[in-house]
Amino acid sequence: MPKKNKFVFISGGTSGIGRELVSLFLHEQVNVITFSSRKKNVINLKKDFSDYSNQLTCFQADITSEKDLNYIHKIVTSKTKRIDYLINNSGTNRIGPISKIKANDWNQIISVNLSGPFFLTQKLLGFLRKDSVILNMGSIASRTGFPNWAAYCSSKFGLKGFTESLREELRPKKIRVVHAEIGATDTPIWDNLDGKWDKSGMMLDTEVAKVLFDSIMNKSSVNVDEIFLMPPAGIL
Ligand SMILES: NC(=O)c1ccc[n+]([C@@H]2O[C@H](COP(=O)([O-])OP(=O)(O)OC[C@H]3O[C@@H](n4cnc5c(N)ncnc54)[C@H](OP(=O)(O)O)[C@@H]3O)[C@@H](O)[C@H]2O)c1
Repeated sequence: MPKKNKFVFISGGTSGIGRELVSLFLHEQVNVITFSSRKKNVINLKKDFSDYSNQLTCFQADITSEKDLNYIHKIVTSKTKRIDYLINNSGTNRIGPISKIKANDWNQIISVNLSGPFFLTQKLLGFLRKDSVILNMGSIASRTGFPNWAAYCSSKFGLKGFTESLREELRPKKIRVVHAEIGATDTPIWDNLDGKWDKSGMMLDTEVAKVLFDSIMNKSSVNVDEIFLMPPAGIL
């Protein structure tokens, strides 16, 4: 049985940085609830962490679906009354010149990266208590525009605005809201992007996750409002 009666909820914990966060929380004996949209990813995560089956709840759900958000709420209700850490991590990307970005791609990026965290947070707000932490996964693309990345940058700039408003709104309740701006990290998110990406200069997802984890765990007198992590070579 987990020693600590703590819960983390992570969207998109089946891959990349989210998956590494899942691993860190499980090793810290925190109960983990996570989901992602592809069944294959859910099955693999459960298999890889089968030693932690008493601590890990992982299921298939699409953050862009209102029906699935209701399902998520139902699952969380069945597991806990309190979420100690809510990590809005799910993310997606497509790139290309503005003239070529299809409406479907724009809608998907905004739905997963911006509307997703907004509605998921709204759905789970009732589980957050004094000293709970919300971590929203932004990017270097939350502060800088890049050619061909307009949809992704729009979603991440938007997420930053949401995060800053949420922080002020939840401050009286002593719920902490953290925004992480992360540079290029070697994860599967790059695999389906047009172009050639040299992953050798990117940060490791294990190391990025560890810094995020250490930044949000067990703080009493310190609010970590912002985290900005970049590869040593800077913007790649
Ligand atoms: N890697 C980087 O260089 C980098 C840099 C800055 C910020 N970030 C941000 O960090 C976060 C994690 O990204 P990552 O690099 O670790 O990418 P990743 O390995 O592709 O992980 C993304 C996760 O989001 C899930 N996801 C995607 N669409 C979803 C949907 N509709 N519903 C539910 N879950 C969905 C994916 O699972 P399914 O496919 O199974 O749904 C996966 O578990 C993202 O917000 C990303 O924007 C990444």
